[in-house]
Amino acid sequence: TQNIHEISRVKNLSRVQIGQYEVEPWYFSPYPPEFSDSSLVYICEFCLCAYHKEICFRRHRSKCKLRHPPGKEIYRNKDISFFELDGRIQKPYCRWLGLLSKLFLDHKTLYYDMDPFLFYVMTQNDEYGCHILGYFSKEKESLENYNLACILTLPQHQRKGYGRLLIQFSYELSKIEKKNGSPEKPLSDLGLLSYRAYWSEAIVDYLLSLKRMDDRSAASVEQIAAATAITPLDIVHTLNTLGALKYYRNEFVLHLSDAIIEGFIRTSKKHRHVIDPSCIQWTPYS
Ligand code: ACO
Ligand code: ZN
Repeated sequence: TQNIHEISRVKNLSRVQIGQYEVEPWYFSPYPPEFSDSSLVYICEFCLCAYHKEICFRRHRSKCKLRHPPGKEIYRNKDISFFELDGRIQKPYCRWLGLLSKLFLDHKTLYYDMDPFLFYVMTQNDEYGCHILGYFSKEKESLENYNLACILTLPQHQRKGYGRLLIQFSYELSKIEKKNGSPEKPLSDLGLLSYRAYWSEAIVDYLLSLKRMDDRSAASVEQIAAATAITPLDIVHTLNTLGALKYYRNEFVLHLSDAIIEGFIRTSKKHRHVIDPSCIQWTPYS
């Protein structure tokens, strides 16, 4: 039986506590109906189990041994790690993660069947453990060549460059797979903004790595696609949005204006974090 919230999709939780943070959910998520009556829902930051009674949460915390997401650590660089989880194997964690992320995702239906997905959870590590910053999910096999199904930076960590890190990581995995990938559609407004920013940067970064001007204007979409793992379609859209395609003697040529390059240098200076591909220890799912 579906409860009334699920039908009307009214936001059902008023506040959630996770680790040292309290956040206000954005959207409905199918937590048990009795959670709606609670003014604060407690989420264990390590196993993501949720409780609507403080006493039950405290009892859980005194017993919970987990200090990092269950699954394999496939990346570590300074204080940032990625853990790979299999929806079929780490089922309870992935279910809780799905419920938590639905609080901040409106346009996605929650998949109840986690088996076809892998989850990449990014953490920041200190002496207490590996604290979740965000994650993305990815189909084990995607017919549409999607390299990412769902992405979330927890709201308390947004706008600090972590979304960019998650996106970069998804493309680094595609490079290892020797495939081009694109995120599952539709994208949310925030998803689109973040992807546009990433694509522009990755493409301009690659073009600037070609030192000779002639090589830059002669670069083909296929060549950029091979270097970045971004799909040709996303590349053409991005170059077009950047105003980097000029129609000249009956064909499109690439032209990076000084304004584009300056914009790029300005944004890349802001980056607090990037993924170092040499720290990834990963083999594609088979
Ligand atoms: N307003 C304007 N620009 C933004 C915003 C915003 N609120 N958020 C991101 N951007 C753009 C900016 O260009 C930003 O770069 P800047 O900060 O240097 O200007 C760039 O995106 C990257 O920002 P990050 O800090 O790296 O991104 P963040 O960690 O905030 O994560 C994300 C982005 C994952 C989309 C986050 O907003 C989120 O979790 N939203 C809720 C869930 C969601 O909508 N997910 C995407 C659904 S689509 C899909 O899953 C396939
Ligand atoms: Zn726990």
